[in-house]
Amino acid sequence: MPDSLPPSVDPSLGSAQTPLTLVSEAMVLERFGASGLWHWHEARAALSRVYGQVDGLMGLIWPRLCTQHEARDPSLKAQDLRAQDLETRGLAPDWRKPGSALYCAYIDRFSGTLKGAIDKIPYLQSLNVGIFHPLPLLRPRSGDNDGGFAVEDYRDIDPRLGSLADLKDLTKALGQAEIRLVLDVVCNHTAKEHAWAKAFAAKDPAFKDFYLGFETQAEVDEWEAHLLDVFPETAPGSFTYDAASGLYIWTSFYPYQWDLNYGCPQVFVEMLDVLMFLANQGVGGFRLDSAPFLWKEKGTPCRGLPQTHDLLKAFVHLMRLQAPSVFFLAEAIEDLNTVLPFFGQDHEHRECDMAYNNSLMTALWAGLAEGKGEIVHQALDLAAQKPKHGVWLNYARCHDDIIWGALGNLASRERQKAWSRFYDQNLNPDGYAQGLGFQGTKGAALSTCGMAYSLCGGSSDGLADKRHGLIYGLVYALDGVPMVYMGDEIGLENDPSFAQDPEKASELRWLHRPHMDWAASQTKEAQARRETILRASRALKLLPQLQEATAPQALLGLGPELLGFERRLPDAQFICIANLSDRPSWFDAGQGGHDLLSGQRLQGRSVLDAYQLVWLLRLDETPSSES
Ligand code: GLC
Repeated sequence: MPDSLPPSVDPSLGSAQTPLTLVSEAMVLERFGASGLWHWHEARAALSRVYGQVDGLMGLIWPRLCTQHEARDPSLKAQDLRAQDLETRGLAPDWRKPGSALYCAYIDRFSGTLKGAIDKIPYLQSLNVGIFHPLPLLRPRSGDNDGGFAVEDYRDIDPRLGSLADLKDLTKALGQAEIRLVLDVVCNHTAKEHAWAKAFAAKDPAFKDFYLGFETQAEVDEWEAHLLDVFPETAPGSFTYDAASGLYIWTSFYPYQWDLNYGCPQVFVEMLDVLMFLANQGVGGFRLDSAPFLWKEKGTPCRGLPQTHDLLKAFVHLMRLQAPSVFFLAEAIEDLNTVLPFFGQDHEHRECDMAYNNSLMTALWAGLAEGKGEIVHQALDLAAQKPKHGVWLNYARCHDDIIWGALGNLASRERQKAWSRFYDQNLNPDGYAQGLGFQGTKGAALSTCGMAYSLCGGSSDGLADKRHGLIYGLVYALDGVPMVYMGDEIGLENDPSFAQDPEKASELRWLHRPHMDWAASQTKEAQARRETILRASRALKLLPQLQEATAPQALLGLGPELLGFERRLPDAQFICIANLSDRPSWFDAGQGGHDLLSGQRLQGRSVLDAYQLVWLLRLDETPSSES
């Protein structure tokens, strides 16, 4: 049932119309077994921390859960069983294979359509991809839609890209290649053209609480006083006046993206239903877009509040009942202290399975700008605090800008501004980097747009490949899943053509959203870049123990231009050392080891060229047997 159906026709909407089912433990036990009952309890506990008495809410959820569970395809149920089996045996999930990456692309720019993406599966396999993340696919509003992040219908596909049947075909074909598809679910907001938003604006009583609308500017000001702007230049403030309803609507992002009101439990039920429906199309994981924003509370910046975490926990536990193999990736681009809670406290109280390691990503670029390892060492130490079950998604670039403020707890504003200037080709014309500054709040550093290869200097710079290889080599060496942003594997550069498109011209992030250049991907240079990534991937494949190694520990006592960390294996040390500067440096490799990237043996004083990276494997000495 599409969520675009005229809402008044949908009999399950609106608690007043829905008969209450009291869900007993026996009912849950009978259908989902003992572990299912545990998930049900956890979800219920999380929801009651948010809403108080939840008998009625659980009664609304139950029939939806049962219906979607019954509708799940047997092949997906088989995948669920395999996932549960791996978990019971304490093994890594199937989407986490040694050396395999998450590949992220806009479908229209990668393969044209979803059907076209099926033909690209061999390409993904050649890159050792384990997770494919097509950027938003669901039917967006027409016209400007924030790159698809303004969804008009969660149960339909952007007609430019294909249909729901095509999505199913793609997930099936990917499944045969052992690749999971992770899909964006924009759970914080809908397009203002979404059926729920239209019903809200038309004052349909069943939807009166679905969004947050205020009658007076004074009320808005009270909230606004504590909020931070996401797009201070192109969409200042967090509210938009809507003439149709006569209300100031909460819009954290663009004016056409209306924030849902999770204070209304029915919103939770509807979004859960969307997740279950999409999981049944074969989606293997969800990227929860703008996850920190879900709950709003006056007097706070309304990001990452405890209720937000409880709502996410409830989603995760209920999905474990309906589609246990589905995983959750949190999109929380904040400082590390704010991101860590998205994993939950521990295995028992888990929340998302994966999260973007955005502080580390930002620190890598900051370290490269300074030619020093210190800021990365600090970010490494913080990132190591994640609970064991949580998996970092390590990355160099994505479709969004680099937000220097994410290192606000580690570096002063002045330092953040220096990084921002360093990468801005207008402010630093003598530098190598070819990025551009994107909007920032007053007094803060501008964030940075640009493709990784351009930030590394681009094709006219003789050292760009070394810098690019260094950054990607580090991304692969970290603890977690490495991500490849479409085009980085061949060194695609900025695409300034967006400025010609009136719908995109005001949005600088299109600078780093180029079309895949399949012809250029055949050149010798492009293949060499791909090979750099593949070499790292192959080394990890041969070292599966690394997945179980300890989190990276910063190596101190190196020259300031060096970044080094160690990951301890049961009988060996994996040591990654990078020279972030443009001058040769050296370190002491002690009794020596094997560099997995160059294949060479290093021992004692070892020289690192400008931007060189080594992955040293040092086996523990076997004690000589006493005679
Ligand atoms: C996420 C997306 C970003 C989008 C925003 C609003 O941060 O990555 O591209 O603008 O959410 O949906």
